[in-house]
Amino acid sequence: MKIVVMGPQGSGKGTQAERIVKEYKIPHISTGDILRKNIADKTPLGKTAKLHIDKGELVPDAVVNDMVQERLGKKDCKKGYLLDGYPRTLNQAKALERYDKVEKVFLLEVPDEVSVRRLSARRQCSTCGKIFGIDIPPKREGVCDSCKGRLFQRDDDMPEKINTRLKEYHKETEPLVGFYGKRIVRLDGTKPIDAVFKEIAKVLEGLR
Ligand code: AP5
Repeated sequence: MKIVVMGPQGSGKGTQAERIVKEYKIPHISTGDILRKNIADKTPLGKTAKLHIDKGELVPDAVVNDMVQERLGKKDCKKGYLLDGYPRTLNQAKALERYDKVEKVFLLEVPDEVSVRRLSARRQCSTCGKIFGIDIPPKREGVCDSCKGRLFQRDDDMPEKINTRLKEYHKETEPLVGFYGKRIVRLDGTKPIDAVFKEIAKVLEGLR
């Protein structure tokens, strides 16, 4: 099972990815999470990434391609994986295709105003990474329901950065729909989280 989850910022990639990997026991490879971890650890990669992420821009293709290929080379990816947030440019898609061929690309579609509304309300656990939002608020403000970790708001979830990120999506990432052609599975990302997951699971059952 080699799959990609793509869609604009706030369309629910991370949210659906969490459920998919739990159900299908494949590794979750989120380029955003790997880059943020490198920034927190102050690695050379993190220092380069920070310059771009802080402005809401994409990190250069060469940096991200190397990082993903190193991750995909690990043993746990032999039987499959879920890529969340990668590829997001044509150059990245071509690099991935040369390395390995993904079977399905789930495209979560939401209008820009939904992205802005959701990201402004998003909070994430600093310990386990669990995502909270408008439809799934934490039971206690600022505290993770699962592990009691501290919730934080991402720096790039400020309104002006969300707009830059959405512009990048429309310019750089949308053309991948044509690149992947019949492998694309279009989903209405404005539906409730469970309803979206049910549609994904229906397709994934066919790949088992
Ligand atoms: P990344 O972390 O990948 O961010 P993103 O693509 O901007 O996506 P988000 O995490 O904002 O949204 P999501 O779709 O995962 O939504 P979520 O499930 O959290 O990347 C960050 C940065 O890193 C990039 O800007 C770039 O600089 C860099 N980067 C990463 N990958 C790169 C690459 N390949 N190349 C170059 N640079 C790269 O949901 C959002 C909110 O909505 C949550 O609160 C959630 O609870 C809620 N929600 C989700 N689904 C629903 C639903 N169905 N109904 C109601 N609420 C919902």
